[in-house]
Amino acid sequence: MTSKISFRDVTRTFPVNNGAFTALDGVSLDIGEREFVTVVGPSGCGKSTLLALAAGLDEPTSGEVTVDGERVTGPGPERGMIFQQYALFPWLTVRRNVEFGLRLTGLPAAERRARATHAIELVGLADFADALPKTLSGGMKQRCAIARAYAVDPEVLLMDEPFGALDALTRVQLQDQLLRTWSAQRRTVLFVTHDVEEAVYLARRVVVMAARPGRVQEVVDIDLPYPRTEQMRLSPQFAALRNRVWNAVYHQPPAAARP
Ligand SMILES: Nc1ncnc2c1ncn2[C@@H]1O[C@H](COP(=O)(O)OP(=O)(O)O)[C@@H](O)[C@H]1O
Ligand SMILES: [Mg+2]
Repeated sequence: MTSKISFRDVTRTFPVNNGAFTALDGVSLDIGEREFVTVVGPSGCGKSTLLALAAGLDEPTSGEVTVDGERVTGPGPERGMIFQQYALFPWLTVRRNVEFGLRLTGLPAAERRARATHAIELVGLADFADALPKTLSGGMKQRCAIARAYAVDPEVLLMDEPFGALDALTRVQLQDQLLRTWSAQRRTVLFVTHDVEEAVYLARRVVVMAARPGRVQEVVDIDLPYPRTEQMRLSPQFAALRNRVWNAVYHQPPAAARP
């Protein structure tokens, strides 16, 4: 499999009062072209830092991150980032907010409008295209923000707990929608979540991280075919995989006890 995103022995330290804090320690990871990889781990294990490095919003202290074999030195239009919470422009309608993300693409206005309409339909906001954000629920605002990234249709989607603040039903709907979009367009997705079930349901591989220092603890292959279904979610095979990831996340030996 061709590697789309590579982390090569990536370390990121932050200066603190009495020295340096190691947020990521020697992380090596390859994400294949068109692969769907999720990352789970305890709070503070460096998940957001990992995504920020791939997005080019941050730089490693040592090691390197490459996309298509090129060292990442900053953000680029081929990589779209979706954060857990991000601001919409309150004075723009849903449609205008989504179109705003397309302003730098150089696409003609009609094409921008068509893309925005499609993305808004994908996230189930068609009836609210002309609404202002203040009239929407929190979940709907987040769906609008997700539509903004989908409209750009980047080769690589970097998603940092994008569904974390949503209610359970909306979350499941958006998971299925994301999988459908991914199957149809086969983009590469690196998706961070603290929800083990979500991590297993979406991914071909789950990267389990450990904290202090942030590192890769284990990579679990999710050997379930796509499309993933509600039936699969209830299957013993799914339960076994979920338990395996759960144990890797929640029964981590303290760093000092590592060999
Ligand atoms: N800019 C920064 N300066 C200092 N420490 C930071 C900075 N960014 C992140 N950290 C620290 O690095 C660790 C990993 O952070 P983060 O990647 O946000 O973890 P996660 O997303 O897994 O919760 C945390 O302990 C956090 O406090
Ligand atoms: Mg985070």
